[in-house]
Amino acid sequence: MIDPNVNFSAAMLETVSALVSPPLPAVWPRFEQPLGLGVLASGNGSNLEAIAQAIQRGDLHAQIQVVVYNNPGAGVVERSARLGLPAVLLNHRQYASREALDHDIVQTLHAHGTDWVIMAGWMRCVTAVLIDGFAGRVLNIHPSLLPSFPGLRAVEQALAAGVKVAGCTVHQVELAVDSGPIVMQAVVPVDQADSAADLQARIQGQEHRIYAAAIALAASRDRAANRRG
Ligand code: GRF
Repeated sequence: MIDPNVNFSAAMLETVSALVSPPLPAVWPRFEQPLGLGVLASGNGSNLEAIAQAIQRGDLHAQIQVVVYNNPGAGVVERSARLGLPAVLLNHRQYASREALDHDIVQTLHAHGTDWVIMAGWMRCVTAVLIDGFAGRVLNIHPSLLPSFPGLRAVEQALAAGVKVAGCTVHQVELAVDSGPIVMQAVVPVDQADSAADLQARIQGQEHRIYAAAIALAASRDRAANRRG
C-alpha cells in the first residue's frame, strides 16, 4: 500500500509513469502515402517538435506540410524555422468571427495538401467550418485525463481537485471544447509536493511520447474504415 502522503522520488515517478503509460507501437504503420499533417499551434510548440522527431526517426509515416500559428512571436515560430517547416500566421485578432478564421485555416491547410489537422496547443475554440472541412481528421491533445478537467488551466484544476493521478488525452475534435472520441491517454502520478509547473512538465513528457503514436493509430483506423492507404 502506497502512503498517499509520501513524496515520490523522481526515479519512482518515472517508473510509475512508464508502467501506466500505453506502450508505443512495436511496428509503426506505413501508409500508401505519408500522412500530410497540418499543425495548429499557439504557443511553445514542443508537441510539434516531438511529432517532427517521430517522423525523423522513421516512426510516424507522415510529413508536416504546414504549421499555422495565431500569435506573432510564439515559440512555435522559431521551432518551425529550426525544423525547416513552413509556418503561416493567421492572427485571430484580424478576423471578425471564429468561422472566418477557420475558413482561412481550412484554405491554408488544403493549399498545403493536409490530410490531418493536429492541434498542438491551439488555444482557439474551433467551429464547424474546420471540423466539417476535415471530418473525423482533427486531433487535439489536452493535459488532463478527459472527460475530467476540460478547458483552460487543466493542470491547476487537477491539483485543486486533489487527484492522485493525472495525464494527457489525444482525442478527435468535436464542437464542445475538449470533447470527442478518445484516441489515447497516458497517466502520470501526482506527487503531493507538485507545483503546477512540476506536474505540467511530467504530463508534457507523456504528451511528447504519445501524440505521434495516437496520430498513427487514428490514421490506421481511418484508413481501415475507409479502405484507403
Ligand atoms: C500542451 O500541454 C497541450 O496539452 C495543451 O497545450 C500545451 C501545448 O504545449 N493543449 P506546446 O506548445 O506543444 O509546448
